[in-house]
Amino acid sequence: MDIFEAIKTRRSVRRFQQKPVEDEKLNALLESVRMSPSWANLQCWRFIVVKEKTVKEQISEMSYVESFFSTRGYKTNPSKKGLAEAPVVIVACADPSQSGAIWDQQYYMTDIGIASQTLMLSAKALGLGTVFVGVFDEQKMRDLLGVPSGIRIVGLFPLGYPLEEKKDGPPRKPLHEIVFYEKWT
Ligand SMILES: Cc1cc2nc3c(=O)[nH]c(=O)nc-3n(C[C@H](O)[C@H](O)[C@H](O)COP(=O)(O)O)c2cc1C
Repeated sequence: MDIFEAIKTRRSVRRFQQKPVEDEKLNALLESVRMSPSWANLQCWRFIVVKEKTVKEQISEMSYVESFFSTRGYKTNPSKKGLAEAPVVIVACADPSQSGAIWDQQYYMTDIGIASQTLMLSAKALGLGTVFVGVFDEQKMRDLLGVPSGIRIVGLFPLGYPLEEKKDGPPRKPLHEIVFYEKWT
């Protein structure tokens, strides 16, 4: 699949078939993520691949954070079901000490953001679906997965074959609203 096609047709996938993800595809995706650029090539990311049903169910429960969702008019995290039903959940972590900080810009978030987009586009190219899940209880997740203090857990990616093919996603702002030429106008 052409890169532009993958970018254009990628959609957040939140429901999955029970069909397992082949090891070859999972490895191809992780190999692709490994090639992402990062601050000074420090590669601050670490990924936990979870397949165990009971652990995925606990991860799913932790994606509902009442204080976050109840104040935003959501009943739950839209990805909660998918985290339990996906054959694989990839938990993206970062070691901030293995990245850069310049003034108040923390580049570990950028590093993980880039790796996340590599992951999502690779999933698309492999015929798989995923979604970036950024809302979850980090402390509970840390305890569940044995993530050391000092390491941040930044995103969860349920991964599997999409239950349905989504064509249209939420619209994007037009270019004239987001691009300035020569200076901010
Ligand atoms: C940093 C980040 C955090 C996100 N967190 C969640 C989340 O907790 N739950 C969820 O269902 N979707 C989450 N999303 C997915 C966005 O809602 C989605 O990407 C956006 O609405 C655009 O839709 P599309 O991915 O189909 O183009 C997140 C996306 C990003 C980039």
